[in-house]
Amino acid sequence: MSPVLILYKSVHHGNTRRVVQFLVQQTGADAADIGQLPLPDPTHYRLIILASGICFQSMHQAIHAYIEKTDLSGKPVLLLYTCGLPFKGYTRKTVKLLLKKKAECLGVCHCRGYGTDGLFGKIGGIARSHPTKEDMNRIFASAQKAIRTSGASSSCGCLRSPVASRLPAGRRTVTPSHAHLHQESGAC
Ligand SMILES: Cc1cc2nc3c(=O)[nH]c(=O)nc-3n(C[C@H](O)[C@H](O)[C@H](O)COP(=O)(O)O)c2cc1C
Repeated sequence: MSPVLILYKSVHHGNTRRVVQFLVQQTGADAADIGQLPLPDPTHYRLIILASGICFQSMHQAIHAYIEKTDLSGKPVLLLYTCGLPFKGYTRKTVKLLLKKKAECLGVCHCRGYGTDGLFGKIGGIARSHPTKEDMNRIFASAQKAIRTSGASSSCGCLRSPVASRLPAGRRTVTPSHAHLHQESGAC
């Protein structure tokens, strides 16, 4: 079992699910749609990543319901979202809830995702090519940082980094390309 659990809700175009699938490939994390029961027991994981598309200026309601009903006291959590138009305040409510539940919010990472809601649908949608490979790599870097901070990895923070896995054990933190994977995302 991986020490990292990703719980996600992706209802619009599967944008968030694509990002989550990429993270699963890169890190070996366990992942589950937050609507599917039974969900894995969070106490078995060192890091929880909560992910969704933005819906009416906020993360999906299913994410909030999960936080409300789950004991996340002291649990490191990373938030991940995809959105049509980036805006800083999207996770305000979610972070507030995490603080109320005494979770340890390690940060927020996001990228744009193809959206056809409301008027955007009439003009063919926005952020049509997103999430891009570049978006996913950026989010992977944020996840790597959270994995390292939460202690959900052995020595250097990479569970199954393609770069790191090709290196001998003693050199797993020294190449520039590997160091790049450890760059910071914004904190809560
Ligand atoms: C009902 C609805 C409301 C949305 N509200 C917002 C919004 O407030 N801000 C924004 O940037 N994108 C908004 N979007 C666009 C989605 O956040 C974006 O397309 C996201 O990548 C969808 O992720 P998903 O495909 O994983 O569900 C909305 C989409 C829908 C369907």
